[in-house]
Amino acid sequence: MTRYEFLKSAGFSGAALMALLTSCVREDDKYVNALTVTPDNTTTGTATTAGTVTTAVSGIITTEELNKITSTKAKIDLTSTTYAKLKTVGGYMIVSNIVIALSKANTYIAATVTCSHEPKKQMIYYNNEWYCTAHGARFSLTGAGLNGNARAGLKVYKVATDGKTLVVY
Ligand code: FES
Repeated sequence: MTRYEFLKSAGFSGAALMALLTSCVREDDKYVNALTVTPDNTTTGTATTAGTVTTAVSGIITTEELNKITSTKAKIDLTSTTYAKLKTVGGYMIVSNIVIALSKANTYIAATVTCSHEPKKQMIYYNNEWYCTAHGARFSLTGAGLNGNARAGLKVYKVATDGKTLVVY
């Protein structure tokens, strides 16, 4: 049922109906404006869903696109031997309290190292899931809990790379 149909069914007509419709449109405009998609595809505003996770997986983008990303949480030089583990599918490393893994070719993922069950920093990437070695909480790559200890979900981050530099944001 549209707003117009609802107001009509509630007995409003004529000038009163028009006044209500006009005020309703303004309310809608405010609501839409509150959900602003920023250039890095995050959503700001008040209308959020509990437990929402952002897209964790991304492939190769251009260096120009990579440089547009702001608010980075970690930046890694993939050409450095320090991060050699991130060159092998299934490999992961912990950088700045973030677990970063190469889940498949050209696809990096990232999540907080801190578990949501208890604040233990024991998250790893294992068997194509996020796994806490403390009590066995298992999370999907998008942070959804897969067992009881994981019911609160896991914070995951967006990742982008141009093949040389990897950015977690
Ligand atoms: S602290 Fe991670 S499963 Fe308990």
